Amino acid sequence: MAQQLALTPPMGWNSWNKFEEKVNAQVVKQIADAMVSSGMKEAGYVYVNIDDTWEGKRDAHGVLQPNEKFPDMKALADYVHSKGLKIGIYSSPGPKTCAGFEGSYQHEEIDAKTWAAWGIDYLKYDWCSAKDVYKNEDMPAVYKKMGDALKATGRPIVFSLCQYGLNKVWEWGAASGGNLWRTTGDIEDSWKSMSTIGFDKQTGLEKYAGPGHWNDPDMLEIGNGRMDNVEYRTHMSLWAMLAAPLLAGNDIRSMDDETKQILTNPEIVAIDQDKLGNQGYLISKDGRTETWVKPLEGGELAVALFNRDDRPQLMTAKWTDLNLKGNHHVRDVWAHADRGKIKDFYEAEVSAHGVVVIRVTK
Ligand code: GLA
Repeated sequence: MAQQLALTPPMGWNSWNKFEEKVNAQVVKQIADAMVSSGMKEAGYVYVNIDDTWEGKRDAHGVLQPNEKFPDMKALADYVHSKGLKIGIYSSPGPKTCAGFEGSYQHEEIDAKTWAAWGIDYLKYDWCSAKDVYKNEDMPAVYKKMGDALKATGRPIVFSLCQYGLNKVWEWGAASGGNLWRTTGDIEDSWKSMSTIGFDKQTGLEKYAGPGHWNDPDMLEIGNGRMDNVEYRTHMSLWAMLAAPLLAGNDIRSMDDETKQILTNPEIVAIDQDKLGNQGYLISKDGRTETWVKPLEGGELAVALFNRDDRPQLMTAKWTDLNLKGNHHVRDVWAHADRGKIKDFYEAEVSAHGVVVIRVTK
């Protein structure tokens, strides 16, 4: 039987949010080194993903070549693999990618074979100019074409659909071979963008997530500088509660300690990576505060008290709202502190734009 991929949400790094067109082979190598030296690899981050702008021209046989920024993709893949990591790449089903580089239109099979020969482990496939040659209704078939081409290579390649959540992709993404699919337009490094995507646009999609197939609220902005660390902790917590893919989007070669702590907090990563693969959901809302729950293996619950307000708020997780009775052990996973056996409810002061995440044992 074919190897099952992405049994937990994929974890890694992607070049776009920080580097855009400034990514090159040297950067990718240094990022791979930093994945190991920073402890990101040990925390579970494994994919090093090159986004748009690596593409060159096709040769006389139609084989897509990388451009001058990436002199030897096979050698680069070998290097990333030598670090115990995996490597990802990017293309479009259209004639051109979003940044105007060569896409895979009418070259799906040959491109899949080329990537497999280089040793690629992950493909992000971005709709972009496909809108000029296909109708929106064609999306499931167009994505399946590449999904089938990847499978036919015999190499396990995670397939990431990127078409901004159009046409209810969550209903057909898995059938097209997708292991994850973007649910919205592009994230930006701002509280407004992150919180709108994370809190407001994932509701109701829980039932489509599970081992092998995930909703993708887009890549992380943690460490990119336009939110503060309280907000980045909220970003990380929300993505973990959503069982979202965790693709760091910062320059991990030079990240500060606080950024590293946020990205690698093992207790938060464990919530994201819980084997049941449940996507968390909102259970109560009171003004600008929201309580979310994610059922975990062994009957445990992750509970997040999110404060979207501009002032600190006292928040309460009531056991009755969680279908719990009596005493339950509570651990605060950002404070790394056991709070003991707690009866009826857990109360915490939550800072402006902040979160308290607890793990409740039944
Ligand atoms: C689209 C995608 C982004 C990124 C860029 C690259 O906007 O949604 O994530 O891949 O294209 O051009």
